[in-house]
Amino acid sequence: MSGARVRVALVPPTPGSLPTAACAVAVDVLRATTTLAVALGHGAARVEPFASTLEALAYRDATPGTLACGERDGRIVEGFDLGNSPFEYTPERVGGRTLAFASTNGSIAMLIASHCRRRLLASFANLTASVEALAAERDVWLVCAGKEGRPAIEDTACAGTLAQRLVDRGGTLANLEAHHAAKLACHSAAEVRSLVERAEHARWLTSLGPAFAADVRYCATLDALDSPASW
Ligand code: MLT
Repeated sequence: MSGARVRVALVPPTPGSLPTAACAVAVDVLRATTTLAVALGHGAARVEPFASTLEALAYRDATPGTLACGERDGRIVEGFDLGNSPFEYTPERVGGRTLAFASTNGSIAMLIASHCRRRLLASFANLTASVEALAAERDVWLVCAGKEGRPAIEDTACAGTLAQRLVDRGGTLANLEAHHAAKLACHSAAEVRSLVERAEHARWLTSLGPAFAADVRYCATLDALDSPASW
């Protein structure tokens, strides 16, 4: 049996445009899908994405056991329980909890994929585990969050690395964006770190302070996690 047809969206596509039967993978290396992969690995029950912070707060207030999480301008939102740093999502804090998540770009990419048959959250931190989880899939859409409607190099490179790994397993690149992204595929942990830490969003986050710089270093760590993340 042949491998997966792999398609990439460099920024979130039009709502409803992804095939329902597809396996959609949201990619927001800095920082949303990295952070949520940590949270799910630390026992969070589920993630509910929202476009607006008010919706996330309302959902939290109406749903017992839920935490309002995410960011605006990189920082925790007033009234939220958690920001968007992977270091905040400890087992003690998120174990068994539902996360009402609203971020600038990552939650938008998740919402665009929310009607798809299967949904994963991928980043460099859980890259190999994500490739393994996609091994049996036939129709894969890699949905990059980008930054405010523009492609983000760290997301494109992560999608490209995932796509190239699936091609190595018999898959095919099935749209122009997948071919473009595969040209940016990283082949070592050092390449991942170099690319992510020099990205525009990484430099901006680092300018916010040492805690954000630590987030960037974590998000630039290939295979820091050994489990895939479904939502
Ligand atoms: C996003 O979803 O836009 C990013 O994860 C924002 C951030 O870096 O906190």
